Amino acid sequence: MKIAVIGAGYVGLVSAACLADSGNDVVGIDVDPKRVELLNGGGVPIYEPGLQEMVERNREAGRLQFTTDYSAGIPQARLIFIAVGTPESKSELREADMSYIWAAADGIGKAIGSSHVAPGSKIVAIKSTVPVGTNAKVVERLTAAGCQGVDVASNPEFLKEGAALDDFQKPDRVVVGVRRPEVAEVLRELYAPFLRTEHPFLVMSPESAELTKYAANAMLATKISFINQIANLCDRLGADVNDVRKGIGHDARIGFKFLFPGPGYGGSCFPKDVREIIATARKAGLDSPLMRAVDEVNEAQKHILAAKVREHFATELAGKTIAIWGLAFKPRTDDVREAPSLVLMRELLDAGVHLRVHDPEALDNVRSQMSRERPQDAGRLAYCDRPYGALEGADALALVTEWSDYRNPDFELMRRLLASPVIFDGRNVYEPAKMSEMGFTYYAIGRGKR
Ligand SMILES: NC(=O)c1ccc[n+]([C@@H]2O[C@H](COP(=O)([O-])OP(=O)(O)OC[C@H]3O[C@@H](n4cnc5c(N)ncnc54)[C@H](O)[C@@H]3O)[C@@H](O)[C@H]2O)c1
Repeated sequence: MKIAVIGAGYVGLVSAACLADSGNDVVGIDVDPKRVELLNGGGVPIYEPGLQEMVERNREAGRLQFTTDYSAGIPQARLIFIAVGTPESKSELREADMSYIWAAADGIGKAIGSSHVAPGSKIVAIKSTVPVGTNAKVVERLTAAGCQGVDVASNPEFLKEGAALDDFQKPDRVVVGVRRPEVAEVLRELYAPFLRTEHPFLVMSPESAELTKYAANAMLATKISFINQIANLCDRLGADVNDVRKGIGHDARIGFKFLFPGPGYGGSCFPKDVREIIATARKAGLDSPLMRAVDEVNEAQKHILAAKVREHFATELAGKTIAIWGLAFKPRTDDVREAPSLVLMRELLDAGVHLRVHDPEALDNVRSQMSRERPQDAGRLAYCDRPYGALEGADALALVTEWSDYRNPDFELMRRLLASPVIFDGRNVYEPAKMSEMGFTYYAIGRGKR
């Protein structure tokens, strides 16, 4: 199938690569000329395990190319995916900024031009996470541009950064929202190679498909805020959240997944999607007390590590050096959008602390964000290429993102490198009893102080 994918970010680029890998002829279209140039030259603008190799393989096989020009891929394509960003807007409601979606829809309209296409011959599929009603508005915009007969489907994406290729190729389910069953059949054929494992292909209305994506993310965010609140209670009451987690997880109605306490969720999806569902409900005349609480609990949780650091060092904090391991919002990505690490860094810098930070993939993104945001703090911020390098002379280590590189460290070496053996473990990666046996002062989330 001839396919165009608009937006070459985490979702668009992964989709384009995986669709090319299953034998389709794919053109990736992005407004960013530097990104397109990099991709056509064999580079990849983001870190996602396996992506570089897959893009290269398909580019070399002639199945995948990139352009900034809508008219280069859209007129020939049977399927056009929209995968541009829908970040949070600056408005009071903090709903999704839809300007990229409208620009993409208008670009498609212009590239197809004023014409009447045969039914089923051209489908626009919205992969971006968009508020309910977007499908209908894209149809309106295409019609206003003079394109008749183009079908618009909603096909939300559920991939996770860090495991995006696997998720795209072995999805738990594929959701499509369509007005005509024939459109679903074209998408079913496209996804067939990825659904061999009996995972379902779910056909519904565009409105239901749009809401499904928000409901999924809201549910996952709720689980995280729930266990974080329980963890904070454990800290106060002397209970161990790890035991409580197991105690509830064995109940099949509850399960274990997504019930790991930490420094709050970040990333480009959960925070903005929870806020969008609140905004959507408000526009529909409904309050969302549960979603507001999920967001509020999460915002507070992002300060939990700084609070523990402040409590430990009390009036001695200014002038101390803290090492941070893990800056990406989660392991196996370089994405730092809304990362809890940034909240910790800002708070510690405000308190006069020197920072020595390490991350296997996200150092460059943090460096460019911090140099824009806080150029005045450059002298107190050391970016370290190696995890142990970050510990040299530091008064404590804060572990924020649980990359596997940090799971089984050389504790002996850590104790020698740190000026004092203090660890704030934001992901409960280490065993409290063992840590105190080895002479560390160890703080975790919801496991009490050792
Ligand atoms: N990142 C995830 O893990 C994930 C998972 C599921 C769904 N989503 C959703 O998918 C969408 C995309 O997210 P992302 O993380 O891939 O975003 P991203 O910011 O990584 O990528 C967006 C890309 O679109 C390009 N772009 C912007 N406007 C354009 C236009 N008019 N025409 C062509 N290109 C344009 C940008 O230059 C950028 O390269 C969002 O709605 C997001 O909520 C993201």
